[in-house]
Amino acid sequence: MPRKIIIDTDPGQDDAVAILLALASPEVEVLGVVAVAGNVPLDLTSKNARIVCELAGRPDIKVFEGCDRPMRHTLVTAEHVHGKTGLDGPAMPDPTMPLQDGHGVDFIIETLRAEAPGTVTLCPLGPLTNIATAFEKAPDIADRVQEIVLMGGAYFQVGNITPAAEFNIYVDPEAADIVFKSGCPVTVMPLDVTHKALTTAPRVEAFRALGTEAGRMVAEWTDFFERFDKEKYGSAGAPLHDPCVIAYLIQPDLFSGRHVNVEIETLSSLTRGMTVADWWRVTDRAPNAMFMGDLDAEGFFALLTERIGEL
Ligand code: RIB
Ligand code: CA
Repeated sequence: MPRKIIIDTDPGQDDAVAILLALASPEVEVLGVVAVAGNVPLDLTSKNARIVCELAGRPDIKVFEGCDRPMRHTLVTAEHVHGKTGLDGPAMPDPTMPLQDGHGVDFIIETLRAEAPGTVTLCPLGPLTNIATAFEKAPDIADRVQEIVLMGGAYFQVGNITPAAEFNIYVDPEAADIVFKSGCPVTVMPLDVTHKALTTAPRVEAFRALGTEAGRMVAEWTDFFERFDKEKYGSAGAPLHDPCVIAYLIQPDLFSGRHVNVEIETLSSLTRGMTVADWWRVTDRAPNAMFMGDLDAEGFFALLTERIGEL
């Protein structure tokens, strides 16, 4: 029985690879894709989400626009990483599939109310604005969520947009605070684990060697967005953040972590968006998140390459 998921996303090249992985994997059933403002503004993230669905041969996927700005702060974007379009790298045709009518937040609410309790997993790959707004608008739905598996946060790897914070959490810390206090089962793919999923040259060449349009796109997206991280970290490749969320749903034993308390800094301007993970359990704060710390990188890329090759 495939696992029902809603992908909430701000494509972004790594989001795009995550969406391709989900659409190539029979273990998951994508009920819908909701775009959020993040890496680039909402009009581009919703366009990019449709481009990726069409690249996967899935113009039937329901794509919605969600929130166009964070709950409290002005939008911070990341064109410096993802380029002006958010999907810089290969030339991409404009999408022909339509956006769905209605707001993405209402789609999340209606879907959770319509599906059996505990059968829908939320997969946020960008700022948590849509998820938190849905919980605020319809408090009854939190109990109906099977699991929230999100990319965001950092502890040992510290921040990538400020010295203290990872981008997705930094953009909308109030939203993250709501999600981490929701009582839902939360599984976190922080920079601590995504920084171990590096797109080294052999791994990128394996995508290109697939000889398919999807394989070529993934390689060219990576060629573009890895320049930022390689220069910043001096690493052998860029971290492929968002596909870790989908890979976890397909092959959870690729990952390991700890169930700990995680709280979000929302008040300090210096450390806004920091995910304060009580990794060493030095407080009596109740654990509320499975915070991943390690992955089998070879296994991750083997799965990813094999599945992208299916498209
Ligand atoms: O910090 C990495 C995260 O921010 C990823 O989800 C990337 O797509 C950006 O949204
Ligand atoms: Ca993202």
